[in-house]
Amino acid sequence: MKLSVVILAAGQGTRMRSKLPKVLHTIGGQPMLAHVIRTAQSLAPDAMHVVYGHGGEQVRAALSELPVQWVQQQQQLGTGHAVAQALPDIAAEQTVLVLYGDVPLTRADTLQRLLAAAEGGALGLLTAHLDDPTGYGRIIRDAQGDVIAIVEHKDASDAQRRINEINTGMLAVSGARLRQWVAGLDNKNSQGEFYLTDVIAMAVRDGVAVNTVHPSAIAEIMGINNKSQLAELERIHQLQQAEALMTQGVTLRDPARFDVRGELSVGRDVVIDVNVVCEGKVVIGDDVSIGPNCYLRDVSIADGVIVQANCVIEEAGIGAGSRIGPFARIRPGTVLADDVHVGNFVEIKKAEIGQGSKVNHLSYVGDATIGKRVNVGAGTITCNYDGANKHQTVIEDDVFVGSDTQLIAPVTVGAGATIGAGSTISKDAPPGELTLSRAPQQTRKGWKRPVKKKKA
Ligand code: UD1
Ligand code: CA
Repeated sequence: MKLSVVILAAGQGTRMRSKLPKVLHTIGGQPMLAHVIRTAQSLAPDAMHVVYGHGGEQVRAALSELPVQWVQQQQQLGTGHAVAQALPDIAAEQTVLVLYGDVPLTRADTLQRLLAAAEGGALGLLTAHLDDPTGYGRIIRDAQGDVIAIVEHKDASDAQRRINEINTGMLAVSGARLRQWVAGLDNKNSQGEFYLTDVIAMAVRDGVAVNTVHPSAIAEIMGINNKSQLAELERIHQLQQAEALMTQGVTLRDPARFDVRGELSVGRDVVIDVNVVCEGKVVIGDDVSIGPNCYLRDVSIADGVIVQANCVIEEAGIGAGSRIGPFARIRPGTVLADDVHVGNFVEIKKAEIGQGSKVNHLSYVGDATIGKRVNVGAGTITCNYDGANKHQTVIEDDVFVGSDTQLIAPVTVGAGATIGAGSTISKDAPPGELTLSRAPQQTRKGWKRPVKKKKA
């Protein structure tokens, strides 16, 4: 079967109350339209057409990497008119699958069943039964139970409105048929629109079988028109991802308090506590534990790492056996070797830290290269910025940096050196020696604290 997918995405989305076009609002960090395109892609179609309208240039630009043909619908004159815009590019022998750009959670296997329902020249129609069908097109069946038409809610009689089988909007049929029927559509209805749904009655008239298929869950056909529906589908999507991870063996302390906005891959025996958000590409090895309230973006975490509560880690690599946090911030460009400890209230930026080194308390390490087995004392600061440019700090292997040290970059501390606490190091410190800069301690014998003057 030669397949062309047509994704309708020209609707205005006014109820989102946003300058961002509706289909670019995200589910799991991906524009909702990208979900539809990705699912359609898994059906290996010969072509994919996205009908865009409002804010179209922004949509095209945002999704320019995706393998689709963009078709503009100048005016939103209805779903039938929207499909008509793509038809000139679709050969008669193709099967056309119509999807909506604002219905992001349809499963590929449901669409496979829909395509199977269109085989042999039939029309496949995805319908569902809803407790509250208000607003949807209703599926009209005859006494034999065969579909004979779709009637839009606004055009329906009271009796028709009591039907709870609805049109999801997704259908599959041959390009030749669709072309013929769409050319015959009119807009003589309550909304003055060219309804794609009118092709159903035309199919029946022409003796084409209409075969219905149902989704396995209602979430698959739910559309997004406002922020409340966006949030609802986001939650469903997140729970689905959480289920998939738990199936792989991940321990999620609470699958309802866990978000992946991108791609997460995990090893064995990974434990993730509540309120962890993973964004972009996150790779986690075996035996890793992530504490509560952590934010990880584009991070790779090797085996046996413990990330304690409240850490923010972005664009960084964490070596095996390392221990991070609680309350650590690891910024882009950081590479930690194995068995590194980064403790509380420590910020690391664009730094490499060698195996077995420790930065345990209240420090800022930026634009630095730190060797192996280095101990960076509490409150140590790399002064990397002179107000105009950034400079490097190099700390070689086996250095001990005393607490409250400022390292004024560019500066190098040689291997095995010791820096006395409270030092301001503005020149290179030689290897193996104690270097310190500290005003000599003095004691004023007999000095008295001032006392408050009595009011007259
Ligand atoms: C449509 C169906 C209705 C179905 C419902 C399911 C028609 C006439 N009605 O109704 O039977 O129950 O979907 O949600 O088809 N779009 C365009 N260009 C247009 C109009 C719409 O691209 O000119 C796109 C929208 O962006 C959206 C989709 O088509 O993705 C459906 O449009 P919408 O206005 O939501 O259709 P409904 O009137 O709700
Ligand atoms: Ca709709």
